[in-house]
Amino acid sequence: MKPAGPIPSHFSALGGELMLGGRTASALVDEAGDTPLFVYSRDAIAARMAELRSAMPERLHIHYAMKANPYGPLLEFMADLVDGLDIASVGEFEQAREAGYLPRETSFAGPGKRDDELFAAIRAGVTINLESEGEADRALEIARTLDVKPRLAIRVNPSFELRGSGMKMGGGAKPFGVDADRVPALARRLVDADANWRGFHIYSGSQSLDAEAIAESQANVIALASELAAEADVSVPHLNMGGGFGIPYFAKDEPLDIEYIGRALQRQFNDLPSNLAETQFAIELGRYLVGEAGVYLTRVVDRKISHGTTYVVTDGGLHHQLAASGNFGAVVRRNYPVAIASKFDAEPVEEVNIVGCLCTPLDRLGDDVHMPRAEVGDLVAVFCAGAYGASASPATFLGQGPAQELLV
Ligand SMILES: Cc1ncc(COP(=O)(O)O)c(C=O)c1O
Repeated sequence: MKPAGPIPSHFSALGGELMLGGRTASALVDEAGDTPLFVYSRDAIAARMAELRSAMPERLHIHYAMKANPYGPLLEFMADLVDGLDIASVGEFEQAREAGYLPRETSFAGPGKRDDELFAAIRAGVTINLESEGEADRALEIARTLDVKPRLAIRVNPSFELRGSGMKMGGGAKPFGVDADRVPALARRLVDADANWRGFHIYSGSQSLDAEAIAESQANVIALASELAAEADVSVPHLNMGGGFGIPYFAKDEPLDIEYIGRALQRQFNDLPSNLAETQFAIELGRYLVGEAGVYLTRVVDRKISHGTTYVVTDGGLHHQLAASGNFGAVVRRNYPVAIASKFDAEPVEEVNIVGCLCTPLDRLGDDVHMPRAEVGDLVAVFCAGAYGASASPATFLGQGPAQELLV
């Protein structure tokens, strides 16, 4: 048997069935009309935000990185809960605008921004986190054409990385940001060009469960921002300190100790370098805000035995849940939290492989998991599906299509 990850604690059972947002899994599937279905819980997101606000210093702004989950109703719901939004394309910008975000609360990071994307974002007043000197030149030229003062920040490629992070985005050669040693010259140039200088964006990694490492990285970010600003002789109106707050996906993962991070950050804020005294600080989080609030529901379409191994075959799979299948950056495949949603409080009685409906051995949702007996028609739940699920998976692969989505 292989263990599955921990099921987030806000899920419960009613009449034996998994409940979400006060409703049973089967009622939600009935409402959506079919499986596969992603369900995201407003209550779980709001509770997560409230816990985070109370743990973090009041001075800290919290931004949502919409790449984690751009589903329209969820994006709208988030707009009232967060202080800003991180976008990564003009497509996200359009979605954000529809959901009611103000351009001035929005910042645009990501390598390879096209001219038309810079044009749309600068014209609307979005902050561009510049990823290179070349991008800076293009942004300044586009602003001149538009006759506007562009809101520009520099994304710094720091020399440090976020220890223990699942995805490292700093430390050494990276396609992201400008190497720290070249940042002062660029910052000076932007200020001299009379841009609306916004400050720095320093993102060093994602999916860390190590509070000490995150606190250490935040201290490094503050020190680096202060040094760069001093060397360039510029102010830092805004410092986006990155994020990296992870969630427990796998067996033995422990939830992140946000109280520890909040206390450490408060100490940093109590003792800031003088050139950051007036700075507005922010973190940008995706999966931490929405990941555990979502569940992916898929229906069992077949049960079969091959060479003594039982396969529970579902109508979902990696085309909606690439990450849970182990094909989204994982080195070794491990089981996300999974359950038989229609028998949520039943005792496990068998060891099975839960697979998707795609004709590829990569389509695995649970390897050698210990489950209650699942029959054709039962619902399988994959948890931690609120981030990097529907929009981060190849929905059209093998002629499948998108899953349904519901915010409850
Ligand atoms: C610049 C940037 N911001 C935010 C995020 C969101 O990360 P997460 O969902 O792990 O919080 C990412 C993820 O890759 C990122 O690259």
